[in-house]
Amino acid sequence: MSPAAAAGRGSSPVAWLMAHTLSCPLVWGLIMLLWIMEPPRADAGNADTVSAERSMVWGPGLHAGIELPVRYFYIQAVSSRGHNFTSSPGAKIFKVTIKALSSNEYIRIHVPDPLDRNDGSYVMRYRMYGSVTEGLIIEVLHGDKHVAQSPYILKGPVYHEYCDCPEEDSHIWQQTLSCPSKETQISKDFAPFPIIDLERMLEEVPRRFAEKRGAIVHYTILNNNVYRRSLGKYTDFKMFSDEILLSLSRKVRLPDFEFYINVGDWPVEHRKANDTPGPLPMISWCGSVDSLDIILPTYDVTHSSLETLRGVTNDLLSIQGHTGPSWSNKTEQAFFRGRDSREERLQLVEMSQKYPDLLDAGITGYFFFREQEKLLGKAQLMGFFDFFKYKYQVNVDGTVAAYRFPYLMLGDSLVLKQASPYYEHFYSALKPGKHYIPIKRNLSDLIEKIQWAKENDEKARKIAKEGQALARELLQPHRFYCYYYNVFQNYAKRQTSRPAIREKMEHVPQPTDSSAVCQCHRNKIVREEL
Ligand SMILES: *[C@@H]1O[C@H](CO)[C@@H](O)[C@H](O)[C@H]1NC(C)=O
Ligand SMILES: *[C@@H]1O[C@H](CO)[C@@H](O)[C@H](O)[C@H]1NC(C)=O
Ligand SMILES: *[C@@H]1O[C@H](CO)[C@@H](O)[C@H](O)[C@H]1NC(C)=O
Repeated sequence: MSPAAAAGRGSSPVAWLMAHTLSCPLVWGLIMLLWIMEPPRADAGNADTVSAERSMVWGPGLHAGIELPVRYFYIQAVSSRGHNFTSSPGAKIFKVTIKALSSNEYIRIHVPDPLDRNDGSYVMRYRMYGSVTEGLIIEVLHGDKHVAQSPYILKGPVYHEYCDCPEEDSHIWQQTLSCPSKETQISKDFAPFPIIDLERMLEEVPRRFAEKRGAIVHYTILNNNVYRRSLGKYTDFKMFSDEILLSLSRKVRLPDFEFYINVGDWPVEHRKANDTPGPLPMISWCGSVDSLDIILPTYDVTHSSLETLRGVTNDLLSIQGHTGPSWSNKTEQAFFRGRDSREERLQLVEMSQKYPDLLDAGITGYFFFREQEKLLGKAQLMGFFDFFKYKYQVNVDGTVAAYRFPYLMLGDSLVLKQASPYYEHFYSALKPGKHYIPIKRNLSDLIEKIQWAKENDEKARKIAKEGQALARELLQPHRFYCYYYNVFQNYAKRQTSRPAIREKMEHVPQPTDSSAVCQCHRNKIVREEL
């Protein structure tokens, strides 16, 4: 490299002079002067040290009233000069302790180390196994120094998620969680249903949706109790709807309402808004452009949020600490592993055989296209966290929307998403080209888009970052609680008659786990008996 070229790159005046001078003492003197005068670089961040005072701590887990299965908050490392760190200053740089505020109370709390998000920020998760009356004290330390406003006092009572202690005023509860006042998807979903006629549904739903598919569960919520009956044989997934309904009803008083949830894969209501007879407001986990189902966050993200730090490893918080090498160290290939649930997934494998330097795609299990296995081969199963060793992630539908999409968006890879008629509850907030790269349904532009990403690394990285930032905002577990409640509230106010406990419905009880034992200090409003 010529000195001039070197000087052109290293933009500091020192570098320029170094490249252009001979050993003249005067010039050397000037160099020394410039050296001393050179201002600190704006991006000095990472050579700098972490400042306990200037670092930031925020999030729902610092508020006593935000009851969640796993509480969480965030830490941002800030340098002593006030710059945010944008890469990790070390995985173990912050320590967190959480205890009962009063020495008279004992509570078991699972407090793992903060998760390093590899961008200067951390997620701190904790799971309580009991409730405390006086409160909690959370200390966030850097070395022996308190970070930001640490120690944080959560004035009690602080309830375990199993504590059956609903806030009677849903407005207060929504405010405490900072729930958004409007969700575009929910407004859109309810637009075709100005009123909800429960008697008509009682008559039509079993006949239209239950007999053939048999994946409908009929619920009534009355006086904050959950009752249900299964309509059909394929309703095992009611365990997922049960658990979130019970969890929500422990935190906030639900309206009285009666609804039908479709626990099968595909949305069911294909009538149009102005058809006669009109469509019915069926509730599903996945929406599609040719159906009118009202959607909820999928059972997958809901269940994994309830089971974080317990039964699952892939959940929306944990994934954030396992996003692989930093951008510049990721393999510059697009990546896919998955089952053969859609034909385009097989095409991916063919494309990857043709363009092995651009795409690494493999089918890990054959069920729908068994005859293709010989031709395309079977790839080894790979842990989801390892996906993020690759810079580009291909998201192709499965039976319906691919439920890995939220997890992919939380990684720091660029997501290439197949165009799809299917959607989950948060897709409408994402903009193609801004938060991910859209790919045609038949994948005809996939290779070209991967090539574009390779040639436009900075732009690709920016899209990956913006997608991740929005996903971090939208896919927080407390936001799911907001979303569910909002859907139920919208549904309830449209009912034109009283919901009722129907024939064959059974009561779904709250868990009786010993950790559920708690003293609820909220005043229960005594309701008139129906
Ligand atoms: C620093 O990080 C915090 C937390 O992520 C963010 O709110 C803030 O805008 C960042 N500041 C700058 C200057 O980027
Ligand atoms: C990339 O990987 C190398 C080798 O493991 C490591 O030294 C370097 O710090 C990494 N770069 C970044 C930006 O993380
Ligand atoms: C792929 O779909 C596009 C429309 O999205 C169409 O124009 C194109 O011809 C299709 N390509 C192939 C190979 O089928």
